[in-house]
Amino acid sequence: MPAVLNVYALPRYADPRQLAGGTAVVIDVLRATTTIVYALQAGATEIIPCGTVEETAARAGQFPREKIVLGGERGGRPLPGFDLGNSPEEYTADRVAGKTILFTTTNGTQALLHAQPAARILPAAFVNASAVLQRLLDEEQIHILCAGTDGQFSEDDILLAGLLVSRLENSGKQYVLNAQAQTARENWLHAFALPYALGAEPLPAEHLARELRKSRGAQNLLPLGYAADILAAALLDKFACVPEADPATLRIHLPQTENN
Ligand code: MLT
Repeated sequence: MPAVLNVYALPRYADPRQLAGGTAVVIDVLRATTTIVYALQAGATEIIPCGTVEETAARAGQFPREKIVLGGERGGRPLPGFDLGNSPEEYTADRVAGKTILFTTTNGTQALLHAQPAARILPAAFVNASAVLQRLLDEEQIHILCAGTDGQFSEDDILLAGLLVSRLENSGKQYVLNAQAQTARENWLHAFALPYALGAEPLPAEHLARELRKSRGAQNLLPLGYAADILAAALLDKFACVPEADPATLRIHLPQTENN
């Protein structure tokens, strides 16, 4: 039987009942899931997504202050009283190694919360795309949730969804795609058909960044001075790790073998 491969351009398009028993891939390229990958790769013990700033503050009270880092944004900007914003490269080993990160963002952490009914939840970004792809090859029910930006779809997320769809199909396994998966794949092929035809592999970060800059997410970030974050998000396969969120608690960690 062919495997199921669905893309949802926004979390609200995914009926939570459909996610049950499947694998949810949660994408917020600019910037939440990219930042999650950087933070875990820098040695953070775990990341706890929080829905609101108030919830973040309440949960912070359950930990010794020196054990946690408060991170996230609203409107792209760092939050008052928080330690870090939502720039991937802020999450360096000296700031986050050995720490629990309480993390709240406008769209990305909401998408993670929406994915909770799934049996397996994998935050994904371009920086760990091939590692996620490998992990997905054995899955029979894949639901890719794009976080979007301020309730609207954002091309940065759709592009990564399209890369995953295209490469899963190229693996030779049979998939049934929903309409949004087909559209995402076409977007990806349209954006990158020429460089691939010319043999551009691996994809140059600047080329991917050029596409990401056109997205709704980037249009919010550029006026705030976060151009470097877009480049950091475009470093395809910089890392080989696959973070996973525990569906019961949503705590995100790297499987033991990848965390050193
Ligand atoms: C979000 O979760 O809304 C985004 O990551 C926004 C941002 O880029 O800060």
